Amino acid sequence: MKAIVYHKYGSPDVLKLEEIQKPTPRDDEVLIKVHAASANAADWHILRGKPFLVRLMGIGLLKPKNKILGADIAGRIEAVGRNVKQFQPGDEVFGDISDCGWGGFAEYVCVSEDALVLKPASMTFEEATAVPLAAVTALQGLRDKGQIQPGQKVLINGASGGVGTFAVQIAKSFGAEVTGVCSTSKLDMVRSIGADQVIDYTQEDFTKNGQRYDLILAANGYHSIWDYKRALRPKGIYVAAGGSMAQIFQAMLLGPWISMTGSKKMGNFITKPNKKDLVFMKELLEAGKVVPVIDRRYPLSEVAEALRYLEEGHARGKVVITM
Ligand SMILES: NC(=O)c1ccc[n+]([C@@H]2O[C@H](COP(=O)([O-])OP(=O)(O)OC[C@H]3O[C@@H](n4cnc5c(N)ncnc54)[C@H](OP(=O)(O)O)[C@@H]3O)[C@@H](O)[C@H]2O)c1
Repeated sequence: MKAIVYHKYGSPDVLKLEEIQKPTPRDDEVLIKVHAASANAADWHILRGKPFLVRLMGIGLLKPKNKILGADIAGRIEAVGRNVKQFQPGDEVFGDISDCGWGGFAEYVCVSEDALVLKPASMTFEEATAVPLAAVTALQGLRDKGQIQPGQKVLINGASGGVGTFAVQIAKSFGAEVTGVCSTSKLDMVRSIGADQVIDYTQEDFTKNGQRYDLILAANGYHSIWDYKRALRPKGIYVAAGGSMAQIFQAMLLGPWISMTGSKKMGNFITKPNKKDLVFMKELLEAGKVVPVIDRRYPLSEVAEALRYLEEGHARGKVVITM
């Protein structure tokens, strides 16, 4: 089978299209013919092994442990191991396989059945693969860390990216009043997916305009944690999912202390693939409450190009890899 393989940490230049052996499922695994994968910021962080801290998360200290990147997949099950209970050959599935050794940038992959959910019949493979990692990050950030409630004023910084486009729609589905922050050319798109207000960060600093929010999800960009604190209402919650390293580290190091000493809660989190959460997302997708926003599609042979584009930090929704 064809796969995009890398043997050492580095830029997208180290990614090579190789012919490798098609895997065989273990007893508790399924073999999937991948029809589409999607790229996430995690792919280019792990490709580069940067920040160095990510290497301490089991991906390999000096060289990559998993030779094929790609967390999000959608495809058709081709074979099942003898202990597999939930699926059979022919089933169309999607999921985040980052807990099962990655490997989505390939024609086939073997993963645990627990990472997978049946694909909504109404969605294409390309639409489905755009969902798992980014949408579950947005869901866990808003619902679990952010304790989102109907009627709350919620702000999403980085509303136009992979995580942000899901966050806007998920927050709306919880009945929040949503403000999305993005740059000029993406204002219309963020409005079109349901944001009640949009703020163009090239024209206005939302931390200085006097507005206050019950919940802020930072998917991208940078503001100091003190700016975010000022933009929160009393008892407000700030959740840092991503953005600049300074933004993440401030939330990680100062957030717990700010949370202990005042009424506002601030912190960061790392998403965990979770089947129940993906089923929750599937229901939102089937109800039409969430629709993936797909920016560009690249063939498998151009994964390096896809990651170069994503790393520039200005994707409009998700970047999808087609097989
Ligand atoms: N905590 C976790 O477990 C977890 C999980 C997934 C992702 N992440 C992190 O979350 C972040 C976002 O991921 P993603 O998939 O959404 O990335 P992405 O798709 O690459 O984000 C691109 C978007 O970010 C926007 N953006 C760039 N600079 C901005 C700024 N200064 N202010 C506001 N928006 C800005 C861009 O909009 P413009 O072009 O308009 O600037 C673009 O639409 C990344 O840092 C990623 O590493 C964390």
